[in-house]
Amino acid sequence: NFTSKIGSFKFENPLMNASGVWCDDKEKLDELKNSSSGSFVTKSATPQMREGNPSPRYIEVPLGSINSMGLPNLGFDFYLNYSLKFQENNPGKVNFISIAGMKPEENLEMLHKINDSDFKGLTELNLSCPNLPGKPQIGYDFEATELILKQAFEFFNKPLGVKLPPYFDMVHFDQMAEILNQFPLAYVNCINSVGNGLYIDTENESVVIKPKDGFGGIGGAYVKPTALANVRAFYTRLNKSISIIGCGGVESGKDVFEHLLCGAEMVQVGTHLMRNGTLVFDKILSELAEIMEQKGYKNIKDFRGKLKSL
Ligand code: DHB
Repeated sequence: NFTSKIGSFKFENPLMNASGVWCDDKEKLDELKNSSSGSFVTKSATPQMREGNPSPRYIEVPLGSINSMGLPNLGFDFYLNYSLKFQENNPGKVNFISIAGMKPEENLEMLHKINDSDFKGLTELNLSCPNLPGKPQIGYDFEATELILKQAFEFFNKPLGVKLPPYFDMVHFDQMAEILNQFPLAYVNCINSVGNGLYIDTENESVVIKPKDGFGGIGGAYVKPTALANVRAFYTRLNKSISIIGCGGVESGKDVFEHLLCGAEMVQVGTHLMRNGTLVFDKILSELAEIMEQKGYKNIKDFRGKLKSL
């Protein structure tokens, strides 16, 4: 039994895509919808459609990926309408809508539209896109984070989560958790890509992506220890009413098991899904089932969050 829960939402299993991966248009969202993932999240939306940064802008490398997409998306209305149709045609099921306004007013504008719609799922406010030239990530500006959450919760009364960037300092875990604990968040999602890495093609003595002179968000195996640390740090600091979604370095059932042990309730697949397509969910689920069986666990809740100390 793989059942997972966020607030009052129940999912058949904890797997999802990572936002941005396999979720930007109808065809890929349909594939996700028909896959064995427990839920899915739509590409971070802006109010208007965007072409994004020039290509190449996503490159697979041996230990992961580097990207600087620049928020290419079909515009907020597309993702809201897709989600409304999904819930209409799949009673009892919901998805997540991710929003990433270029300015605070754009986030509030999209939150108002969701609030005024029939959308019954979860909304993810992305505080951590590292790829917009000249725009700092909100999640690294603690005052800006507190302000946008204050403004959002003044009117927004549907389940809301935030996507965070990775933090690397214990004091930052403490300070961010203290801010997040002031709000009735449904969940926090840790982590977005490790921002502004630089991958080099040694033979050509060159960067490998075009935007930002090669700087981009790092995902995949490189980031798993950072992701697990962030999941664990927030799981141990946040109010128990705030669930954790784990994202980063997930390629196998073992990786999912580790995120769950750290306290994640849902676990997302990014780089590995991008490389291999939606059949990865079947393989990962069967690997997770095997680990649980070997260990004698019948339900995820038997071990979720129960990472041992030494
Ligand atoms: C993009 C990348 C991100 O990591 C994110 O959270 C949102 C958007 C992008 O470049 O499109």
